[in-house]
This record gives sequence, C-alpha cells and structure tokens, in this order.
Amino acid sequence: MKQKVGLGFFVLLSVFCAVDSQCSRGCDLALGSYYVWQGSNLTFISQLFQTTISEILSYNSQIANQDSVEADTRIRVPYSSCDCINGEFLGKVFNYTVHSGDTYDLVAETYYSNLTTSAWLQNFNSYAANQIPDTDAYLNVTLNCSCGNSTVSKDYGLFLSYPLRPEDNLTSVAESEGLNASLLQSYNPDSNFSAGSGLVYIPTKDTSGSYRALKSSTGISGGVIAGISIAAVVGVLLLTVCIYIGFYRKRKVKEAALLPTEEQTLQPGHGPGIASDKAVESTGPAFGSSAGLTGITVDKSVEFSYEELAKATDNFNLANKIGQGGFGSVYYAELRGEKAAIKKMDMQASREFLAELKVLTHVHHLNLVRLIGYCVEGSLFLVYEYIENGNLSQHLRGSGRDPLQWSSRVQIALDSARGLEYIHEHTVPVYIHRDIKSANILIDKNFHGKVADFGLTKLTEVGSSSLPTRLVGTFGYMPPEYAQYGDVSPKVDVYAFGVVLYELISAKEAVVKENGSVAESKGLVALFEDVLNKPDPREDLRRLVDARLEDNYPLDSVRKMAQLAKACTQENPQLRPSMRTIVVALMTLSSSTEDWDVGSFYDNQALVNLMSGR
Ligand SMILES: Nc1ncnc2c1ncn2[C@@H]1O[C@H](COP(=O)(O)OP(=O)(O)O)[C@@H](O)[C@H]1O
Ligand SMILES: *[C@@H]1O[C@H](CO)[C@@H](O)[C@H](O)[C@H]1NC(C)=O
Ligand SMILES: *[C@@H]1O[C@H](CO)[C@@H](O)[C@H](O)[C@H]1NC(C)=O
Ligand SMILES: *[C@@H]1O[C@H](CO)[C@@H](O)[C@H](O)[C@H]1NC(C)=O
Ligand SMILES: *[C@@H]1O[C@H](CO)[C@@H](O)[C@H](O)[C@H]1NC(C)=O
Ligand SMILES: *[C@@H]1O[C@H](CO)[C@@H](O)[C@H](O)[C@H]1NC(C)=O
Ligand SMILES: *[C@@H]1O[C@H](CO)[C@@H](O)[C@H](O)[C@H]1NC(C)=O
Ligand SMILES: *[C@@H]1O[C@H](CO)[C@@H](O)[C@H](O)[C@H]1NC(C)=O
Ligand SMILES: *[C@@H]1O[C@H](CO)[C@@H](O)[C@H](O)[C@H]1NC(C)=O
Ligand SMILES: *[C@@H]1O[C@H](CO)[C@@H](O)[C@H](O)[C@H]1NC(C)=O
Ligand SMILES: [Mg+2]
Repeated sequence: MKQKVGLGFFVLLSVFCAVDSQCSRGCDLALGSYYVWQGSNLTFISQLFQTTISEILSYNSQIANQDSVEADTRIRVPYSSCDCINGEFLGKVFNYTVHSGDTYDLVAETYYSNLTTSAWLQNFNSYAANQIPDTDAYLNVTLNCSCGNSTVSKDYGLFLSYPLRPEDNLTSVAESEGLNASLLQSYNPDSNFSAGSGLVYIPTKDTSGSYRALKSSTGISGGVIAGISIAAVVGVLLLTVCIYIGFYRKRKVKEAALLPTEEQTLQPGHGPGIASDKAVESTGPAFGSSAGLTGITVDKSVEFSYEELAKATDNFNLANKIGQGGFGSVYYAELRGEKAAIKKMDMQASREFLAELKVLTHVHHLNLVRLIGYCVEGSLFLVYEYIENGNLSQHLRGSGRDPLQWSSRVQIALDSARGLEYIHEHTVPVYIHRDIKSANILIDKNFHGKVADFGLTKLTEVGSSSLPTRLVGTFGYMPPEYAQYGDVSPKVDVYAFGVVLYELISAKEAVVKENGSVAESKGLVALFEDVLNKPDPREDLRRLVDARLEDNYPLDSVRKMAQLAKACTQENPQLRPSMRTIVVALMTLSSSTEDWDVGSFYDNQALVNLMSGR
C-alpha cells in the first residue's frame, strides 16, 4: 500500500503541476513539411536545418534530381530532435546565420516556409524587428514540433509539423498523408484545417517507411489510480510543493543555470551518494556554487572546453554522429590523441547528466563504460572512451554487420551481468541502472560487453522504503511491480536483463510488433513463456532462435539461457535471482559453450577468439 501512495503522490503532483510544466521530455526526431518556393534549393534548405542534403533525401524518395527540387511542392525536412523548451512547449531551435536585408518576416515566412511565425521568432531573439544586424549575427529560429499524445494513440511517435496553406482542408490533407481524418483532427483539436494558415501536427513515417510507436516514459496504469484517493488528503501539501517547484523552475530559467532536483542534490549528509570518502577527498574540479551544484565534486574526470569538443567532432558534424538515445546525440571524437565518444544533451537533461556523471566518476569497472570528462558550456556534454563496435541492438537487428555468433552472445551476457553485479553489490552506495536494454549495452573491439547510459540510475540505501519515484525506463523492459506501483529495487534491472537474454537468443525486439501495430504487440517475455511452459519446448524454441545463427548453436545452451531469462522475468521480484547468481550461471554456460565451439569447427572466428585467450 505504501508504494501506491507513493506513486499516487507522483500522479497528483504531475496533475497539479501541469499548469506550470507543459512538457517533460522531447523526442529524438521530428519532421517539418517544407513548402519549396521559387529560388530555393537543397543546399540552402540543408543549411537552414543544420543537416545534410543526403539526410533530407532519405526522407524524400520522390525527389528525382537533387539539383533542382520542384518548386511549389512539399518536402520533408528532419529536425534532429524535438526538445521540451523551458518546460513549456516542444520545439527545436535552429541557429540561423543572418544575411544582409533579413527581416523576421522574411526568415519565418519565406526561408523557413511558415514553419514558424515572425511573432514567435521575436520571442527568442533580442534584436528589435528593425535592428537585425547585417553581418556576423545569428538568430534563434524556434520551430514547434510534436512527439505525440498518448491520449489520442500510442501508435504514433513521429510527427510532421505542417503549415496549412490556402488550398488545404481536412479531407485533402488526410488523403495526401494516407491517414484517417478524424485521427488527424484529434491530434489537432483546435485547428481549422481550412483556415489557410497555422501549424498542425501529422503522424508520419520514418525512413524505414513505417510509423514509429510512441515512446512511453511515464505510462501510468490501473493499480496506480487506487493511490490517488489517499493522496487527495495531502492535496494541500502538494499545491505548496507545486508552487515551490514553479518558483524553482522560473528561477532556473532565469539564471539559465543547472539546478539539481531531489535525486541529485549531493550536499554532504543528504544521502548515501556522498557517503563515499572519495568524494570528500576529491581533488578534482568542483562546479561553482553559483551554478547551484554545491557539493558535487568530480574526481578523475577532466573538464573540457566547448571549443575543444567542437574541434574534436568537426563542429558536431552529422558525419561524426554515432548514436542517438532518448537524452542526447552521441558523436565520435578524437580528443587529446584518444578515440572518444561525446554525448551532447540539452540543458533540460540536467537530471540525467548529473546522474550519469555521479555514477561514472565513482564507479569503475571493466564492464561499465568509462567516463573521461565532461563540459557544461551551452549544452551538457559527457565524454567517454570510444567503444568500437556500437551497441548490442545494432548487432542483433541492424543491417550491414555479421551475425553475432553464439559464444559471443554468451560472453556479452556474462560481461553485462558482471557490470550490473558490480553496481548492485559492490559499490557504496548501491546503484540501480533502471534502463537496461540492448541499446544500452556496448560492444568493444574484442566483442566484450560494457554497460552504458547511466542517465536514469538511482542510488539506493539498502533497505530503504520506496520514495515517490518518477517512472522511467523503456517499455518492454519494465517489470510489472515497477510499471504498476513504481517499486524500485535491483530486481528491476534483473528483469530487464532477462529481456536482454531473450533478445540475444531471438534477435527480436523487446516488444514484438505484429502486423506493424503496437496494439497487437506481444512482449518477448510472453512469447518465450508460451513456449517454455510446454512439456517439450525444444522444437518451438528452435523456431524462436535468431535465424541468422543458422544451425551454429548448441540448443542445450540456448535452452539454459532461456531458462535463466525466464527466472529473471518472473512476476514476483523476490523469486528473481540476484545478479551474483546470474553471473555464476552464465560463467558455467560460457565454459561449456566454448568447449562446444572448439568441437564443432563451424566457425574459425570462434576458434581464433578462443586461442587468443577469450
Ligand atoms: N562510448 C561510446 N562509444 C561508442 N558508441 C557509444 C558510446 N556511448 C554511446 N554510444 C552510442 O550512442 C547511443 C546512445 O547513447 P546513450 O548513452 O545510451 O544515450 P541516451 O542516454 O541518449 O540513451 C548508444 O546506443 C550507442 O550506440
Ligand atoms: C540556393 O538558394 C539560395 C537562396 O535562395 C541562393 O542564395 C543560392 O544562390 C542558391 N544556390 C544555388 C546553387 O542555386
Ligand atoms: C550559432 O553558430 C555560430 C557559428 O556556427 C556560433 O558562433 C554561435 O555561437 C551559435 N549560436 C548559438 C546560440 O548556438
Ligand atoms: C507563408 O504564408 C504567407 C502568408 O500566408 C504567404 O504569403 C507565403 O507565400 C507563405 N510562404 C510560403 C513559402 O509558402
Ligand atoms: C508554438 O507553440 C506555442 C505554445 O504552444 C504557441 O504559443 C505558439 O504560437 C506556437 N508557434 C507557432 C509558430 O505555431
Ligand atoms: C539565442 O538564444 C541564446 C540562448 O537562449 C541567447 O543567449 C542568445 O542571446 C539568443 N540570440 C539572440 C539573437 O537573441
Ligand atoms: C492530448 O489529447 C487530448 C485529447 O484530444 C487533449 O485533451 C490533450 O490536451 C492533448 N495533450 C497534449 C499534450 O497535447
Ligand atoms: C478540399 O480540397 C480539395 C483539393 O484542394 C478539393 O478538391 C475539395 O473540394 C476540398 N474539400 C472541401 C470540403 O472543401
Ligand atoms: C476513422 O476512424 C473513425 C474512428 O476512429 C472511424 O469511425 C471511421 O470509420 C474512420 N474513417 C475511415 C475513412 O476509415
Ligand atoms: C474554418 O476556416 C474557414 C476559412 O476561414 C471558414 O470558412 C470556416 O467557417 C472555418 N470553420 C470552422 C469550423 O470554424
Ligand atoms: Mg540509451
């Protein structure tokens, strides 16, 4: 019951505070519908949207000749992210270089083709309308975007910002976009599609030609609602909290500074986070207290200047981009002679930035990605060692890579289990990762696994009762007790790890889409359970195994890994094994699998790896 009250508290808090906070999290992609005017060209458009021509072409298969785009047609342009700006609305800010003679009208209505308005532009730029400098100046061009609306549908998570034109109406737009008119209207309840102007948001397909499902980060389900009635009693208290938060946020916006929230306030004595004497002894750089980060000290990591990071990534050139997660874009860099990966996050992601900085400066392990440094100029940056082979999700499902052989899969499982065991059992304080999934497991050049992305990590006092928690993580990897009641324990990671094991076996996504629709989707957990509960699962299990493995795997080893995954994903968290037990199980599996590889001679690489001591 205690937990229900906890999450109920959270629900109410978000309801009350909604007045102040219109958005909480953006998304990693949005598109704009750009009406091509006479005299424009793709070079110019790609500069406006800080992207490349080839990136634009990937969203517009209809363009036959990139050197002469047909005027008076619409093309789709990508916004590299859609961010929650000042907690108030979703938008993307582009940096526009002023040319002589520019006016806000010209920039909004012609150059940006009515994706924004002159009035909206003036909100974000200090120049008076008739005093835009002729040279050496930049404008913040803020374009509104959308990430979806779970009330309307969870099937759509990618949206096209579409400026209406005089020839448009609801029927014609719905028809040209291949969508149901009533669906379109429900995403834009206040819009008149025949008005001839104004922005509407339209669900749209990505480069793979399919709709993207809504990423749910704060799905709140049935059991939670029960908590609300109890929480109502403390409504007055909540309002007070909201007023305080509102005040806090305004101050934050004004100072444009980083203010930590409850979870990462690290003042001495405020929690177990600082209990480690390392932090006290630290000789590393400390953030200025004026930035509101009193008490955070960062040892063994270097503060970089923006200039240095920009230089190392060729000005965050898209060609250097190697990854995109929920909170940031990751770029390849060569920094002080070392290969590095730099994660660039918006100022709004300070909570995630601080969580990650805190964990990775205190915790070091071979199976956890290593942090080299950070930077807090303009955006938030984390600098890591570069991990050559990308993430596990790419290996399992991406094209253009050789299939991972079975022994590598076992090895990667064991490596990530060791990383998790370390943060669960051997650090003070103990940490819970909360976002274990294949995209957050990196693979190094020797095909060893490393756990990454500590942005949602939570520190726990052993034996502490659960405090109100914001529900974070990824759909498909969340255990029932967490999704329903917000209960956080290391067993949350164990469950997600079990899902990763199923992924290693099947190469399927955590949520298996059927007929391309999320409504008919089935979790990987349920899919495997149906099979494993049969008296003789062998044949059905074979059918679930990644086809790219062909016959090059020992079924017995697969079966054992599936059994382990099943144990990890049990409904009752107490029945799930600890990471320590899992490590032991995987070590046993690993040694027997290597024997098998030697015996089979199917695959020379396995032999080479084995001989070189893996
Ligand atoms: N150190 C690294 N080396 C190589 N690639 C990385 C590294 N860190 C992240 N990436 C790539 O970037 C992606 C996103 O990184 P992640 O830390 O998970 O960001 P987010 O918090 O936004 O999810 C990863 O899935 C991976 O493909
Ligand atoms: C592209 O369009 C811009 C803006 O209209 C123009 O200044 C530029 O000369 C054009 N470039 C080419 C190659 O046509
Ligand atoms: C815009 O870009 C220019 C040069 O690329 C840079 O000097 C300037 O600081 C940028 N402005 C913002 C607000 O990012
Ligand atoms: C933008 O809207 C204005 C006014 O509705 C119109 O005159 C102009 O042609 C539009 N711009 C483009 C590029 O279509
Ligand atoms: C962008 O969104 C904000 C907040 O919803 C709204 O006030 C503003 O008018 C919008 N701007 C444009 C150009 O649609
Ligand atoms: C653009 O936005 C940045 C950050 O909010 C601000 O520092 C800068 O002054 C703005 N540019 C203009 C021209 O107002
Ligand atoms: C989502 O849609 C519902 C119903 O149309 C609407 O009431 C709500 O304001 C929308 N939420 C957002 C964030 O647009
Ligand atoms: C909608 O627009 C299309 C094309 O512009 C036109 O043929 C149709 O008659 C319009 N429908 C209505 C109801 O205005
Ligand atoms: C659009 O969807 C509504 C309800 O979602 C449905 O009643 C209607 O028949 C659909 N229209 C078309 C043309 O599919
Ligand atoms: C929508 O706008 C058109 C054109 O301005 C107008 O004729 C029509 O009455 C409006 N419809 C509604 C429902 O307001
Ligand atoms: Mg990630």
